[in-house]
Order: sequence, then C-alpha cells, then structure tokens
Amino acid sequence: MQEVKNLQPANAEDVEQLRIKYLSKKGVIAQLFADFKNVANEEKRMVGQMLNELKNTTQDMLNDMKDKYANQGSAAKLDLTRTPSAIEFGTRHPLSIVKNEIIDIFSRIGFTVAEGPEIEDDWHVFSALNFPPEHPARDMQDTFFIEKNPDILLRTHTSSVQTRVMTTQKPPIRVLCPGRVYRNEAISYRAHCFFHQVEGLYIDKNVSFADLKQALLYFAKEMFGSETQIRLRPSYFPFTEPSAEMDISCDICGGTGCNFCKHTGWVEILGCGMVDPAVLEACGIDSKVYSGYAFGLGVERIANLKFRCKDLRMFSENDLRFLKQFDSAL
Ligand code: PHE
Repeated sequence: MQEVKNLQPANAEDVEQLRIKYLSKKGVIAQLFADFKNVANEEKRMVGQMLNELKNTTQDMLNDMKDKYANQGSAAKLDLTRTPSAIEFGTRHPLSIVKNEIIDIFSRIGFTVAEGPEIEDDWHVFSALNFPPEHPARDMQDTFFIEKNPDILLRTHTSSVQTRVMTTQKPPIRVLCPGRVYRNEAISYRAHCFFHQVEGLYIDKNVSFADLKQALLYFAKEMFGSETQIRLRPSYFPFTEPSAEMDISCDICGGTGCNFCKHTGWVEILGCGMVDPAVLEACGIDSKVYSGYAFGLGVERIANLKFRCKDLRMFSENDLRFLKQFDSAL
C-alpha cells in the first residue's frame, strides 16, 4: 500500500498504468487474492480483512488520481499564457458606409431620419404622390404587387415615407428617408430588382427652388469634393413641379470626358423638384401657406461613383473578399 501511496503519476495515462498493475485481473492485488488459499486457516480472517482493505484503499486512491487528471486534462490543454488569436470584426457594408455619409452630410443642415415599411399600399406609394391611375409605374413591369391584393405592393421608392411624414407631422418638415426599394427589373450589372435610396423632403413657408439648388450643391461638394460642380436638367416626376435631374461633374476625368461619363463630363446622380401643390393638399398641408422641395438619390449609384465598382450585383452577393475592402473607405 505504501508503494502505491508514494507513486506520483504525471498524467491520466500513468494512472491507468497503475490501475492495470494493481487492480486488473492479473494485477498485484488479484495475485494476492489468488494466494489467499495458501494462508493458514487461523490467519485467514485477519489476512482476508487486510486484503479487502488494501483493495478498497487502492481503488479509492486510483479513483482520486483519475479524477485529478481528468480535470487537469482539459486545464492542461488550456494554455492561459498563449497569445490570443485576434477576433475578426465584421466590416461595414459599402452601401451602409455611403448611406451613413449621405445622412451625415444632410444632418449637418438640419435633416432628421424617417423610416417606413417596405410593404406599402398604393395610396402611400402612388396615389398621394399624384400618379395618375394609368401611370406606367403602376404597371406590373415596374412594381411588385401582392398577387392576392393589388392594393398592397413593395414600395418602388421611399417617397412613400415622405407621404407618411406629411400626413402625420406639421411643417416645418425636414426629413431624410433612407431605405430599400423594389422594382421589377431584369437583373444585370447596372440594374437590380431591389436597390437603396435616400430621399429628402423639406416643407416650410417660402421654400424656393434656390433653396433646393443650394442644398444639393452643398451635398455634392461634401460628398465628392469641393471642386465638384452641379448641373440641373429639366425632368418629369408626378410629385414635383418643376422637376429636375441633377448631374455632377465627372470626378474621374475632371469633366474632360471619359468612358464613365460617356464622354459628356457629367454624371447623373439624383432626381429632385418642388413638391407639387396637389401632393401637399392630398397629405393635408395647405399649399397656399407652405411649399417644399424633394429629392431622391440611389445609394448604389453614389457608391459606384465613390468606389468605382463596375457591377452593381456585387453589393448583394455577400462575397467577403469584396465587402472587406471598404472597411475604412470613408
Ligand atoms: N422618387 C423618385 C424616384 O424614385 C426620386 C425623386 C424623389 C425625384 C423626390 C424627385 C423628388 O426615382
């Protein structure tokens, strides 16, 4: 017994070796039990007691050792001094980077953010915004309608959030409406069935086209650099009158003409205009007292310009090799 007590096993494997040596069928103690028959009858009682005691004590000791090394086994693998491997942080999505930058720029001139549902009703997306019933945007080609109820659809622009703000808040209103929008388009490198917009709306007394132009010039210079110039071209939207599309000077060629700007020196980035009085009235705002401007831009388009991505689909493919590149882009 003393021999077993003095043993210093170093690990669970040593303990197992000891068990085999002392407690297995052919082990030392089994051998002693085998020799028991040779013990003189008058000593059998005492020797039998000693043998049983030896066996139990040995068993207990080995169990203790086994427990000790079983616990230490996992601790031995856990090396607390090892240099930790770095935890990988995710990176911000390029569209989020651009969206946040747009929000940041406009928030510096007083705009706050408003959000609304992606599944909308016809009134908030079209009717309140002066789309006549036969307008092509209502056509199945452009809009995803819910089959069972054509009054419910996936919003085609975040102007629907502007409708919600105009019907629930009193002017002055100065909001940005960022979000995902859906259009029934064939997917290619330059179009997708969903994309992201940030639309802006400002309604107050005496808001003029000059205010719109100044806000957009400020945005363009903040976003693309102080050398950037803007150009407004007449356009048409049902909800604004007059309406315009805004180009910025191409920052790739500096306006001299390249493939990106199709050799015009200008790149289109957004639609805008003065909110049509009919829209204000539909939303319960007195168009004789208030006027306003609105604009809407595509986040993917701005991101393409900023990051020179050639294929719009990369933004939604979740390829980490692509997404990781924008970590500290802005
Ligand atoms: N809603 C328009 C679109 O989806 C953009 C826009 C917004 C144009 C506001 C003018 C004013 O293309």
